[in-house]
Amino acid sequence: MGLFRKKLKQEHKILLQAERAKGALLPEYHRATPECPHPKRWSMYDSMTAEAEVLELLRTLVTTIKPELIVETGSFLGVSTIWMAEGLKQNGFGKIVSCELDPVVFAKASQKIADSGLSQWIDLRHESSLDMKIEGAIDLFYSDSEISIREQEVRHFLPQINPNGLILIHDASSHQKIVREAAFRLQAEGLISVVCLPTPRGLVIAQKRQGN
Ligand SMILES: C[S@@+](CC[C@H](N)C(=O)[O-])C[C@H]1O[C@@H](n2cnc3c(N)ncnc32)[C@H](O)[C@@H]1O
Repeated sequence: MGLFRKKLKQEHKILLQAERAKGALLPEYHRATPECPHPKRWSMYDSMTAEAEVLELLRTLVTTIKPELIVETGSFLGVSTIWMAEGLKQNGFGKIVSCELDPVVFAKASQKIADSGLSQWIDLRHESSLDMKIEGAIDLFYSDSEISIREQEVRHFLPQINPNGLILIHDASSHQKIVREAAFRLQAEGLISVVCLPTPRGLVIAQKRQGN
């Protein structure tokens, strides 16, 4: 029977786990890396949503740099979107555009955002990041969709990113070689300057070189 059960897509499996956990915080369970040897000191809601501490950082970055426009790729259940929208609400201006490709996940995120009371700050789109049309300069760009296209996303949106703004790329730990190496490649090409935060899943904070 088990052999014939349809394999659940990773996003849907984690979505079910997140619903069962009902918002409880768990110790981070991503593996230790040389730069982050004690991942269990961090917390998470689930393994798709950014670490709880990273969510706090996202909100604080929003209140610190006061962006007019935030673009996020990969909303999953909308948790990071909502944390950044809380920052926008505190600022009293700005907008976050976020996209989610998976229709089931998109529907859950839409509901969560509607329930959060923060809808006025959020433009959630059901489309692929690379098809997303954005008007104007991006002050905060958060790349958190499919790992294999994060580099493409940064290259794609780079011309629209404010040189004084920030580029964040999640899952850039030394374990997640794809994203980390992509960030260093973009840096070696002179496109961005990179700082790697030693968090369980790794977070790159970067800034565009052109215009600086
Ligand atoms: C790591 S999760 C995002 C987590 C979320 N930012 C948070 O911290 O709460 C990645 C999400 O990106 C979505 N995704 C994958 N490819 C995508 C694409 N091309 N465009 C938009 N979303 C995509 C997946 O369905 C998944 O829900």
